[in-house]
Amino acid sequence: MNGVFITLEGGDGSGKSTQAALLEEWLTARGRTVVRTREPGGTDFGNEVREIVLHSRGHISPRAEALLYAADRAHHIETKVRPALARGEIVVQDRYLDSSVAYQGAGRVLDGDEIRSLSLWAAEGLLPQLTILLDLDEATARARLDGANKRFDRLEAEKSDFHRRVRAAFLELAAREPDRFLVVDAALQPEEIAAAIRARVEPLLAE
Ligand code: TYD
Repeated sequence: MNGVFITLEGGDGSGKSTQAALLEEWLTARGRTVVRTREPGGTDFGNEVREIVLHSRGHISPRAEALLYAADRAHHIETKVRPALARGEIVVQDRYLDSSVAYQGAGRVLDGDEIRSLSLWAAEGLLPQLTILLDLDEATARARLDGANKRFDRLEAEKSDFHRRVRAAFLELAAREPDRFLVVDAALQPEEIAAAIRARVEPLLAE
């Protein structure tokens, strides 16, 4: 496999989509083929799962939720991400297994190591070369989401304590794997964030 697998992580409202778009633009301008994708979603099957996990009414048990994200991941990685990497393309993906460890592990209070193992089983062990964590304090993230004036999904609607746990879990994951993670302060200007990301991606392109 000689493509490059890059994931973006962070809380809701941290600006992942903006940065994914800027990174795709920059890579494309350099002549690279980019597959920009996301979890949950990214495939037709994944979009059906996405609808259930994000918009289903009523309670979903935490373990069922974890399995739904894992099911989306298994299908997405096998049918879309691995083939792109095998073609030597660059996959820029909004959220991956670290989101499961943070949201289902720390957020829903399941065992983080078990959640990680479940995701690795689903994805047959695939880890990104680089994971960009856009770190933002919970109050600023909430203010951004409120400003966007959109309907909250099931996860966004969770209380602030949930989002504080999610943020702490992301930072802990980054501290555990410093070689894989780049942590960027998401309160910076989008262009400053994009520059920090480009500096870290550049050496990966030469490999
Ligand atoms: P996303 O589409 O990235 O939403 P946003 O653009 O608002 O950040 O992700 C949808 C939600 O799914 C988000 O609240 C995080 C959650 N999520 C999990 O709880 N576990 C997971 O494994 C993934 C991939 C996402």
